Amino acid sequence: MNILLTGGSGYIGSHAALVLAQAGHAVVLYDNLCNSRADVAQRLAQISGHPVPLVQGDMRDTDLLARTLRQHHIAAVLHFAGLKAVGESVAEPLAYYDNNVGGTLSLLRAMQGVGVRTLVFSSSATVYGEPRYLPIDEAHPTSATNPYGRSKLHIEEMLADLVASDAAWRVACLRYFNPVGAHASGLIGENPRGVPHNLLPFVAQVAIGRRPSLDVFGQDYPTPDGTGVRDYIHVMDLAEGHLAALDFLAGHSGWHAFNLGTGQGHSVLEMVRAFEAASGRAVPCRIVGRRAGDVASCYASAEKARTMLDWQARRALDDMCASTWNWQQQNEKISS
Ligand code: UD1
Repeated sequence: MNILLTGGSGYIGSHAALVLAQAGHAVVLYDNLCNSRADVAQRLAQISGHPVPLVQGDMRDTDLLARTLRQHHIAAVLHFAGLKAVGESVAEPLAYYDNNVGGTLSLLRAMQGVGVRTLVFSSSATVYGEPRYLPIDEAHPTSATNPYGRSKLHIEEMLADLVASDAAWRVACLRYFNPVGAHASGLIGENPRGVPHNLLPFVAQVAIGRRPSLDVFGQDYPTPDGTGVRDYIHVMDLAEGHLAALDFLAGHSGWHAFNLGTGQGHSVLEMVRAFEAASGRAVPCRIVGRRAGDVASCYASAEKARTMLDWQARRALDDMCASTWNWQQQNEKISS
């Protein structure tokens, strides 16, 4: 099948592109490169042995999207493109609604015009807001605590409205927990600009000596060691979840939401220890105050994806840390 990946040169999109290419699909990347590099397409071609075209374009360019869908005879779209920094979304909400919600609207118009009606959307566990119970299943109430989360929620709801209006649509919203790790080749991975906001990229930069220590945001949470607990999932497992969702949509129309997580929670200090073991480097920590907006614990019930998609995460914490470390070492020169 010919598949378009918006945001395809980004962290999660690039790993999904690889898994799809290796499963025999023809992938086309569509990206404005605002948070990724053009050479990702060559790297994917190098690993997969298949050509990986990259169309450089913006999500809000509906004409270019429609031309790309037609030109490459696209049958399904995986939609990763979007801004994703929580703090930035609070400071610049309009940029988030414009890129994320406006960009998706533009994509849906292009798809409708061309007659492509299969979509897998990159959603987030952030749509659950403050957890009311654990593990979080897909029936958990949704809410948002910042413009980034609200943009994801608006998109999910927009997709549900679209599906209700036309039964030919097939839509899967994949609610990611905390993606970490990299492909074993060390050729693709997460390349945050500036100071990383997420835990593992920051830990990796401390381990390699680029930053002196990790600030641990709070040790007074009601968790076993007092630090925040999250459901970290290997990005290759996450990527395989997209292949499973596409296979599912081949047999099911309608709107569907699936959690992609492991179902296991790990604390900040557990992650630091696992990273020290994988890298053989020390990761000095400083306990500081809580980060605004953080919750104590958040982890998934991954049962729905297991039963309906026949998918589950297989890779363990040591692989998540070792592959992050491998990528960090190989890319020390290009990351800024
Ligand atoms: C964050 C976002 C979430 C987004 C997700 C994307 C916030 C409040 N939440 O989730 O909306 O969907 O990233 O991946 O920004 N930590 C430290 N020190 C650090 C960084 C993190 O102690 O320098 C701790 C955090 O307090 C948390 C854990 O590490 O307990 C994971 O943090 P992070 O990687 O930012 O993920 P989330 O907070 O789950």
